[in-house]
Amino acid sequence: MGSIKKMDDTIELYNILGKLDSPIQHIGGISATAELLEMLSLKKNEYILDVGCGGGYTACLIAEKYECRVEGIDASPVMIENARRRAEKRKLEDLVTFQLADVYQLPFKDNKFDCAFFESFLNVLPGDREAALAEIARVVQFGGRIGGNELVTTPDIPEEIQEEVNHLTPYLGNFMNPEELKALFQRAGLSSIIFHQYPASKISSNMLMGDSRKLMGISGLASYLVRMVVAYFRHIKLRSYSKYSRIVLKDKKTRKYFGYAFIVGQK
Ligand SMILES: C[S@@+](CC[C@H](N)C(=O)[O-])C[C@H]1O[C@@H](n2cnc3c(N)ncnc32)[C@H](O)[C@@H]1O
Repeated sequence: MGSIKKMDDTIELYNILGKLDSPIQHIGGISATAELLEMLSLKKNEYILDVGCGGGYTACLIAEKYECRVEGIDASPVMIENARRRAEKRKLEDLVTFQLADVYQLPFKDNKFDCAFFESFLNVLPGDREAALAEIARVVQFGGRIGGNELVTTPDIPEEIQEEVNHLTPYLGNFMNPEELKALFQRAGLSSIIFHQYPASKISSNMLMGDSRKLMGISGLASYLVRMVVAYFRHIKLRSYSKYSRIVLKDKKTRKYFGYAFIVGQK
């Protein structure tokens, strides 16, 4: 899988998306973040890692809401720039730090964090997810929590839909179904696994648009949409990604095969 699906291409896509500067890029939007944070049982002053942090929305939210110290890493330099700008604007630089890093080589010592989490991260990762989760687990202390919110498919998703999406975005990971996601956590040696799944009917592109309006304001959303149209015509990768998003979020014939799942385990 990893040999044909190039990380450079993945990062190029996220640099393009990062230039659009949408605050969140994960399935389920604001309410999914709230639910994941609840499941992670965050406590005041804990030390938290956001893996594939994107534009830093969740890392900043955690610092504000829980007064935790948060580190965010992402392999896209544009995302890291956006995240740093967000933390600066919210005057959170003392609590939140962002670094350019690859999940396979986290720049942290073993057992450093109380909790590590990710949102729509493993499902886009084209490389070895087991190795990625092992590296995340390495930096979490024993007894600490690791959790995520990930796009999943129903077990009966037709092969031709999988193939169409793989063909459109070969630099994003293949889909996982809920059982595969759970098995991944089990193989990483995580225990006390809590799992919760939402069907496709909970995902909609309108919901994401509503969240974007809430976070960016009407004028922010309008200028985002203009940037999106310009980028759409400029970048073939964005056109393919838009088709992928249509299959997952919009098209009634295909979106019924998708959903998202929350999973939390203990090291
Ligand atoms: C779907 S976005 C989600 C971003 C953010 N978690 C959010 O919810 O808005 C996936 C993120 O993973 C990052 N990413 C992809 N491969 C990575 C890798 N090997 N190491 C670190 N980050 C990576 C991308 O740059 C992108 O920002």
